[in-house]
Amino acid sequence: MGDPKCTRPRCLATLIVVAVTSVFLCYYFLKVDLVSVMSEKVTNFDRSKYLIPKDAYDERVSIAVNTAPKFTYVAPNYTYVAPNYTYVAPENLTETLKRIASMHKVPSVNCHALFKDSQRDIEYARNKTKNITSPISDLAYLSLTADCRAFVTSRGYILSPLTKEEEDFPLAFSILTFKDVEMVERLLKAIYRPQNYYCIHVDKKSPDSFYQSVASIAKCFPNVFIASRRIDVQWGWFSVLEPELECMKELWRYPKWKYFFTLTGQEFPLKTNFELVKILTVYDGANDIEGTIKRANKERFRTAPPLGITPIKGSVHITVNRDFVGYILFNKTAEALLEWAKNNVSIPDETYFATLNHNPQLGVRGAYKGVPETDEDGKPFLTRFKNWGSYKCSGGQYVRSICILTLGDLPLLGKVKHYFANKFYLSEDRVVIGCLEEKIFNDTRDEYLGVKTFDTSYYANLSFVKNKV
Ligand SMILES: *[C@@H]1O[C@H](CO)[C@@H](O)[C@H](O)[C@H]1NC(C)=O
Ligand SMILES: *[C@@H]1O[C@H](CO)[C@@H](O)[C@H](O)[C@H]1NC(C)=O
Ligand SMILES: *[C@@H]1O[C@H](CO)[C@@H](O)[C@H](O)[C@H]1NC(C)=O
Ligand SMILES: *[C@@H]1O[C@H](CO)[C@@H](O)[C@H](O)[C@H]1NC(C)=O
Ligand SMILES: *[C@@H]1O[C@H](CO)[C@@H](O)[C@H](O)[C@H]1NC(C)=O
Ligand SMILES: *[C@@H]1O[C@H](CO)[C@@H](O)[C@H](O)[C@H]1NC(C)=O
Ligand SMILES: *[C@@H]1O[C@H](CO)[C@@H](O)[C@H](O)[C@H]1NC(C)=O
Ligand SMILES: *[C@@H]1O[C@H](CO)[C@@H](O)[C@H](O)[C@H]1NC(C)=O
Ligand SMILES: *[C@@H]1O[C@H](CO)[C@@H](O)[C@H](O)[C@H]1NC(C)=O
Repeated sequence: MGDPKCTRPRCLATLIVVAVTSVFLCYYFLKVDLVSVMSEKVTNFDRSKYLIPKDAYDERVSIAVNTAPKFTYVAPNYTYVAPNYTYVAPENLTETLKRIASMHKVPSVNCHALFKDSQRDIEYARNKTKNITSPISDLAYLSLTADCRAFVTSRGYILSPLTKEEEDFPLAFSILTFKDVEMVERLLKAIYRPQNYYCIHVDKKSPDSFYQSVASIAKCFPNVFIASRRIDVQWGWFSVLEPELECMKELWRYPKWKYFFTLTGQEFPLKTNFELVKILTVYDGANDIEGTIKRANKERFRTAPPLGITPIKGSVHITVNRDFVGYILFNKTAEALLEWAKNNVSIPDETYFATLNHNPQLGVRGAYKGVPETDEDGKPFLTRFKNWGSYKCSGGQYVRSICILTLGDLPLLGKVKHYFANKFYLSEDRVVIGCLEEKIFNDTRDEYLGVKTFDTSYYANLSFVKNKV
């Protein structure tokens, strides 16, 4: 596993993409705007080579399963040639952002009023939760992406880094998916920028139609890829952690990104890329990871961790700097802790990252030096908004004690400081995602135009930012 050489089909394909990209960039250098450069890139590389043939794929999965994963990882001898974009003139980008924002305006619902908690509009919109736009079936994405250029344009992807600040601060994401391609695709679109990197893990149990549809989307972008090992994710087991580690490994070969987020296909951003970059800039390396000793279920730890490390309970959702990921991939202490978490902890995904981040003696960059207790005022956990019951659950539906977010929750979602929210089901409520999308694309437009500003003072003042390794 973790083959460092570029012999795998996907890896080769990446090189092909980079090569094709470079050719086009040279060709178009100085005369073509970004949108057409990106579009040429995505339509002209050899799709059949980029998409891993199913048979080869399954074979690799079974080999990987037979040789138990060890997560010792050798840095690949791999030079990634970052795409060299040519940018559109600002006035054209302005036009583009206005067009994209208007494309995301939800028909026959006043999202602005919903965010403002207008009961009349909320009542009215409740009759439309399943009815504002038609659902897109998983398989429909195969034809939608047959022409990548048409796909990225018609769906309203932002194909520019927008600001120098964002360009210089690329982000990396893992997205764990198992169903509902439309939800995954709308999440991807909301966070997509050409300077970022996206690793999508498709559960081994998911149907082939789901896998093929997600893969068809990924192959339209040079910086979106499917994790090459598919894991059968079982809640509470090590298999929840494995896809994250896989994605970390695969993302590591791109040297420029500065922060890493873990996401799932049932989540959606509450902040724009611009806002995330502003927040993470003031974090200056600080990680945002949940942690508790007081509320830890101690029976989960069958033995003490190695090397005098204190076990901490947290969650699998993390926002971490690049060196935190590097520590996990390359450091022997991280490896020993992972062995312990794998063999001697139940629900290891809620322990591993939290423990690394709340043992400051390890010297992991961005770790928290204070008392490892997440609480709303002292040490909030902003990586993910989840309503476990602290707020009214507007739709009244819960999955594993977490409120399914619906349009009545929009006033709350518009206010909270968190970066992403969990969890959403398009089958329950299409308005809530529609309105969040409308707001994200509006805010992106307005921040680019300079008519909306973003105040980071709350984030700069956080204890985990002031008190980090
Ligand atoms: C790594 O790449 C360099 C130059 O690109 C080459 O000289 C060297 O032999 C490579 N090392 C390995 C282990 O492949
Ligand atoms: C893009 O490539 C050209 C020529 O190789 C180079 O002069 C220019 O500085 C590059 N631009 C960026 C943003 O890297
Ligand atoms: C920008 O868009 C305008 C029309 O909106 C067009 O006339 C102009 O040529 C475009 N500029 C570039 C550099 O493509
Ligand atoms: C988004 O912008 C449009 C056009 O300016 C506006 O009509 C709409 O209310 C805005 N939506 C939200 C959620 O603010
Ligand atoms: C919503 O639909 C119900 C019946 O389906 C109707 O009685 C009610 O008036 C509608 N509410 C609004 C605000 O349109
Ligand atoms: C969907 O909305 C249209 C009008 O916008 C309405 O005529 C139709 O009855 C609605 N369907 C459902 C199932 O609510
Ligand atoms: C896990 O627990 C077993 C005893 O149940 C012990 O022998 C082993 O050393 C522990 N492994 C780690 C990595 O702590
Ligand atoms: C690995 O981590 C330990 C403890 O944090 C540290 O002492 C050691 O220097 C690290 N090793 C490397 C190679 O960075
Ligand atoms: C900074 O945080 C402290 C508590 O941690 C709070 O008392 C203070 O008001 C905050 N200052 C600002 C400017 O937000």
